[in-house]
Amino acid sequence: MSLQALSKFERKIGRQLRLFELRKSSIERNIARQIRILERKRDGIGKKIEEQVRQFEKKRSIRLDDEVRFIRSWIERPLSIGAVTPSGKLLARTMASYVDPASDGPVVELGPGTGPVTGALVEAGIAPSRLVLVETNPAFCRILRTRYPEATLVQGDAYSLRRLLETLLIQPAAAVVSGLPLVTKPIKMRLRLIRDAVDLMLPGAPFVQFTYSVAAPLPRRLGGFSVEASERIWMNLPPARVWVYRKPEAR
Ligand SMILES: C[S@@+](CC[C@H](N)C(=O)[O-])C[C@H]1O[C@@H](n2cnc3c(N)ncnc32)[C@H](O)[C@@H]1O
Repeated sequence: MSLQALSKFERKIGRQLRLFELRKSSIERNIARQIRILERKRDGIGKKIEEQVRQFEKKRSIRLDDEVRFIRSWIERPLSIGAVTPSGKLLARTMASYVDPASDGPVVELGPGTGPVTGALVEAGIAPSRLVLVETNPAFCRILRTRYPEATLVQGDAYSLRRLLETLLIQPAAAVVSGLPLVTKPIKMRLRLIRDAVDLMLPGAPFVQFTYSVAAPLPRRLGGFSVEASERIWMNLPPARVWVYRKPEAR
């Protein structure tokens, strides 16, 4: 190829390259514009969904955030969570109704989750500073810490109750309220838990436990304990019953 032909070829290539560069930056600008439009649309859709969720929550007096967190935790550890959704208001209020707000001493809650029963206890007149919350799930602990900053939060295994609370409680507890999925545990563990709970409480103080199960979570005849149960709460999903165990003072 002659020198003249070569420089003509170079000029042609240079022109093609410039044209390509021009097209490339126009294509890039176009793509960036499409991405911005998509992001705006996505934000709009997200806001719309959020708004619909809020409306739904308002209508049904529930907090879907909690439901979603609960379902996520349940998917990760179904046996430990023991329920797909947090307790409904009626069940939470029934649990709280067994605790005397005029009583003295801390109120221990085992497995508070996202705090529906905790809320009902506070609503019933228990000062948040009296609450000792024992929860194992770190995500739920974070929620509880922000919702009930005055309560004492113990992140740990409620089945080691004695070790966890022996030195923490400076006076006997007025009640132990449990949302633990007790029936997923062997009977020996359940019995040890209630005996440890009773040792931390005033005589006659209630150990309050709900269950979805038809059977009682602990034997109905439990040496020296008085046992009572609520009506089945059909409004809860799933329907549940509250059981209360008290160890009266020895005469
Ligand atoms: C059925 S949910 C009840 C939650 C809440 N009380 C309610 O009524 O919605 C059981 C709760 O117990 C907690 N839990 C399960 N095993 C536990 C353990 N060994 N120690 C402490 N908390 C536990 C779970 O993380 C969950 O928050």
